[in-house]
Amino acid sequence: MRILSIETSCDETAMALVDAKGGIKNPRFKLIKNLVASQIEVHKPFGGVVPNLAKREHLKNLPILFDQILKANRYKLKADLIAVTVGPGLEPALWTGINFARDLYRELKTNNKKLTTKLIGVNHLEGHLYSSKLEGTKKLEFPAAALIISGGHTILLSVKNMASWKKIGETVDDAVGECYDKTARLLNLSYPGGPEIEKLAKDGDPNAIQFPRPMIHQKNYDFSFSGLKTSVLYFFRENKNEEFVKKYKLSKKPDKISKADIAASFQQAVFDVLTAKTLRAVKKIKAKSLIIGGGVAANRSLQKEFKKKIKKENLKLNLFVPSPKFCTDNAAIIAAAGYVSFLKNKKRSLKAQANLNL
Ligand code: KG4
Ligand code: ZN
Repeated sequence: MRILSIETSCDETAMALVDAKGGIKNPRFKLIKNLVASQIEVHKPFGGVVPNLAKREHLKNLPILFDQILKANRYKLKADLIAVTVGPGLEPALWTGINFARDLYRELKTNNKKLTTKLIGVNHLEGHLYSSKLEGTKKLEFPAAALIISGGHTILLSVKNMASWKKIGETVDDAVGECYDKTARLLNLSYPGGPEIEKLAKDGDPNAIQFPRPMIHQKNYDFSFSGLKTSVLYFFRENKNEEFVKKYKLSKKPDKISKADIAASFQQAVFDVLTAKTLRAVKKIKAKSLIIGGGVAANRSLQKEFKKKIKKENLKLNLFVPSPKFCTDNAAIIAAAGYVSFLKNKKRSLKAQANLNL
């Protein structure tokens, strides 16, 4: 089945053409085209995504991307399925993709009444869940645990098979990507903050400052990240006296702490919480595989930390993390999730659903 997929939930306009085959338990994908028009430069001056600017950019980019796909197919586009993100995301941004998909579908049907092309709404989070199925040949074994870490979500899932899962935990406040972006702003780094903090942290000492590890010892699978960002804010504001040194268990004098040390120590706090909670879930579920997806999964230092802890705890666990281009938003993951939804015969209303969840 050939799938044309469209993604406009946030600040990336993306379109892909993907061939899919196989049953619901083991879907397989071949990428024909995977286009992303990033809006990062547009939103950078504002330090975050501005919904109406995102809408304007999507409206401008969608026809351009579609034309590139058409051109690559010598203007003979055949798609069995059009898959479009309906949520979660920014409502005005979501509508641009949905309307584009609807218009395209109508036009195709008008030109050819016998056409069997279907149109399906996709949950963006399912895209992140299926992203690791887009590449590699390593077999996903079940049960599995899945950690979705993006700009808007931090979710832990117990995955029975590719078509069935249960949410076991999520953030009670900020998402981990949001925490990265807000902390980056405190450090005067540009948007999006995740890659900037990761880069800066390479020159820092992860043990320089002991930032809090919220909820790390709670026996649930929920997360909390807003306190961590606030702690970085207080770290800047507080008097750099003896009490301060004790409170943050500083490994060096306050005036010797660099911005890179703050970034590295911040990341270490994030890594400790994410790995502790996720691996606890892995043990509870008796997972054979761990899937990680979403923009924050692109962080190589986080991937290394997971590998280190899996080894340290002697877990027999296969780690599935997509390459960075499939971690951050793109339309290939929407095609993958669209295919599974199609196989499941899952009907979703073709309306923007800003707060859609898993
Ligand atoms: O999945 P995504 O592209 O969009 C959403 O669905 O939200 O995730 C975007 C988030 C942003 O918060 C960004 O700062 C974060 O992913 N991110 C990273 C890295 N690359 C992107 N966070 C940490 N390290 C990275 N290398
Ligand atoms: Zn995303």
